[in-house]
Amino acid sequence: MKQQIFNDYETLSSAAADLVLETVKQNPGAVLCFATGNTPAGTYRLLAEKARAQAADFGQCFCFGLDEWLGVPPEKNGTCHQILHEQVFKPLGIQSSQVHLFDGMTTDIPAECKKMNEMIRQKGGIDLALVGIGLNGHIGFNEPGVSFALEAHAQELHDSTLASGQHYFSEPTPISRGLTLGLAQLMKARITLLLASGSGKAPIIEKALEGPVTSEVPASLLQQHERALVMMDKAAAAHLTK
Ligand code: F6R
Repeated sequence: MKQQIFNDYETLSSAAADLVLETVKQNPGAVLCFATGNTPAGTYRLLAEKARAQAADFGQCFCFGLDEWLGVPPEKNGTCHQILHEQVFKPLGIQSSQVHLFDGMTTDIPAECKKMNEMIRQKGGIDLALVGIGLNGHIGFNEPGVSFALEAHAQELHDSTLASGQHYFSEPTPISRGLTLGLAQLMKARITLLLASGSGKAPIIEKALEGPVTSEVPASLLQQHERALVMMDKAAAAHLTK
């Protein structure tokens, strides 16, 4: 695992956008996986700007969504589906045929997860997975205590995840569970890029990067990923000692 520390959110977001662009320039058919949330929003804004300025072509890449809220209609403001379409796919001209997202309205969770796993295998795995970190150390919806061996699965969400998740929605939305790619899939991604910004993330970043590898802090597993890259701003890195 490598770490990069940036002065602020804007320079962090710019560097992350550059890495996505570079990945697609080097491999136009790259398989990408995107999280949603506050942290990557700046990256997605700058990625759209840079892609337009550089006439980058995303026409051959393939994109997976990292996770989704269960039981929330996809078009609702705040779902991973809606956010990724708005912030990533539309601005980059990525067509629906180039995208596979979890169906949060599924009535058959095992089949939905199997479809996701098979699709990832069929595409040859993920080249670049862009993920965030929750205040409790989750990545995607892999909550503390999760098995490191899991692929796509449904997860009961912790109170802190539900509380911060509620802020993504424009109106109060009942949420309790999510679908997520598993840590086994993120560990196999050719690059797993974890973004962290702000002082609120400093305690969990310290645990994830400098504490023991434990399922109680799911992001700590990235210490064992040779090509994991943690990009963070100074505020998020403030508790690091090494
Ligand atoms: C969202 C996701 C979550 C977030 C995490 C951090 O798709 O996968 O794991 O990345 O909760 O969220 P923010 O960036 O809003 O602090």
